[in-house]
Amino acid sequence: VTAPVLPVSPEALDQAAAVIRTGGLVAIPTETVYGLAADAANGEAVARIYAAKGRPRFNPLICHVSSLEMARRIGVFSPLALRLAEAFWPGPLSLIAPRAADAPVSALASAGLPTIAVRMPDHEAALDLIRRVDRPLAAPSANLSEQLSPTTAQHVAAQLSDRLDLILDGGPCRSGVESTIIAVDGDRLVQLRPGAIARADIAGVAEQQVMSPEEGAIRAPGMMQRHYAPRAQLRLDASDVREGELFLAFGDPPRGVAPTLNLSTRGDLIEAASNLFAMLHELDARGTHIAIAPLPDEGIGEAICDRLKRAAARSAEVGV
Ligand code: TXA
Ligand code: MG
Repeated sequence: VTAPVLPVSPEALDQAAAVIRTGGLVAIPTETVYGLAADAANGEAVARIYAAKGRPRFNPLICHVSSLEMARRIGVFSPLALRLAEAFWPGPLSLIAPRAADAPVSALASAGLPTIAVRMPDHEAALDLIRRVDRPLAAPSANLSEQLSPTTAQHVAAQLSDRLDLILDGGPCRSGVESTIIAVDGDRLVQLRPGAIARADIAGVAEQQVMSPEEGAIRAPGMMQRHYAPRAQLRLDASDVREGELFLAFGDPPRGVAPTLNLSTRGDLIEAASNLFAMLHELDARGTHIAIAPLPDEGIGEAICDRLKRAAARSAEVGV
């Protein structure tokens, strides 16, 4: 099935909002590039984003908001972060801030991290849609993994039309370059990705230097160990449970094993992806040794297996 491409209109926005509310995927125009959007709070919808893009890893996603108030429900904004948000939003600045307690965002959207990326796009249709849904939208660029970022609805359709539910056509993107990503790390600013807003402009508003990742305590997105590393020891591809272990199943557990938790009793990889980080957190709180059932290394299973291998490697430098 190919997704309909609807020019932006009140009716199209209504339809898009209905798709998002029911866990579907909508390609949306922004001022930078088209985004592949879903309800950030819905873990299975977020898992579908990764599956649609064919991303081999869980890279944290940017949450798009329509107001500062919505931003503050999901992130903890220091005075410095607020100053940048007030100066550049709506606009192509993504701020990385600590995740708010009880943020209505699935753990998968921020890839299990204690931080969250937030931006308010400078695009009327995107803002209108977020207001209609009244919750943050998780959206990476609407392209297949490793392919070019889309700046028209036609680019999106060419790559993804059989993998999403609706494409909102808002014409060509004004900027065509992704947002600048700035991590607010205490009283320091680190540019994690150069983008549509110049580093010097951010430094000017902040009245302080914007560091490169090498200078900051935070490592670049490509290098930092950006995933929550459990304290517990993980044993992968487990077909039995040993003394002192908790068991994380996928589908039917091995004979005689009573699973502590199950990523998906029906063996569904999308459901498993949406449960992965939350279940690892829970098991980590409950024990020191976790045995994990094998999962198929295909489709979104590739990203799940990648994450598990990294988590099992513990502190070893795994180079995300
Ligand atoms: O202009 C844009 O930013 C576009 C439009 C659609 O808004 N979005 C976009 O998303 O470029 P994406 O997923 O292609 O890139 C987001 C990047 C991730 O690759 C990751 O490196 C970084 O943002 N990121 C997200 N959350 C992060 C976090 N908590 N810590 C560090 N980096 C994070
Ligand atoms: Mg991208």
